[in-house]
Amino acid sequence: MYTIIDGKKIASEIKQEIAEEVAKLRIAGKKIPHLAAILIGNNGSSETYVANKVKDCKEVGFKSTLLRFGNEITEAVLLDKIAELNNDSDVDGFIVQLPLPGHISENKVIEAIDPKKDADGFHPVNLGRMMVGLPGYLPATPFGIVELIKRFRIETSGKKCVVIGRSNIVGRPVSILLSQKGMDATVTVVHSRTKNIKDIVSQADIIIAAIGSPAFVTAEMVKEGAVVIDVGTTRISSAETKSGFKLVGDVDFENVAPKCSYITPVPGGVGPMTRVSLLRNTLIAAKKD
Ligand code: GUN
Repeated sequence: MYTIIDGKKIASEIKQEIAEEVAKLRIAGKKIPHLAAILIGNNGSSETYVANKVKDCKEVGFKSTLLRFGNEITEAVLLDKIAELNNDSDVDGFIVQLPLPGHISENKVIEAIDPKKDADGFHPVNLGRMMVGLPGYLPATPFGIVELIKRFRIETSGKKCVVIGRSNIVGRPVSILLSQKGMDATVTVVHSRTKNIKDIVSQADIIIAAIGSPAFVTAEMVKEGAVVIDVGTTRISSAETKSGFKLVGDVDFENVAPKCSYITPVPGGVGPMTRVSLLRNTLIAAKKD
């Protein structure tokens, strides 16, 4: 029998903890944490993510600001807006929702964010600090994954962990966190150019799937008793839902789950933990003022 890693439940417990901290700050007359988000264009997934982030802020008692711009915004204007947020002493943390339109450099935008306000933990300074084990803001999804592993007391020491995908925001940073002292996993990163992906994944004790390809991980790739963390969130159209779409992960859940010891669902697994990590980073930033 497998255990479902209920990210939604854990996220709601953490949100409760954060709300209690905010209430204490309020009583002590301290600053209420303020998270801002920049959203460009009208990508459906980005709209949903940002709307959820605003809702999360409300739930825990944070202040939130949403700055929206059309796809035609120039890189220079966006960099000016980022500078404004960097200099706004009321804003503790902010994010620029990705992906950005093709004419804007994601790297330039991320580098323009003050590392002290980098709630997403995407700035090279924060990634560098993570790399050498210094305190800083951890990237939101890897932070959430590690928290799930810890709260479910999943053993990582000496375990073979295979990360599928090498993105800057998930695959690469989570591979670093899992191999660090304290987590102590033996980590392999596989990607689009890896040969024999199936053979490598099928030896894993822990699989982290972060490639954005629906049902990529099939039952034959999963060892009996493995832990499977599904980071995929591909939107596909669906007649079953009111919104007309549904989220699907990178794992063929129905056939993979019976082989697992633990598995995350999509939705309701990693996604809520990513959002809660953003709140945690913002709370840390606010308390530093
Ligand atoms: N796009 C997809 N995931 C994320 C995220 O965690 N943060 C930001 N800023 N953009 C994203």
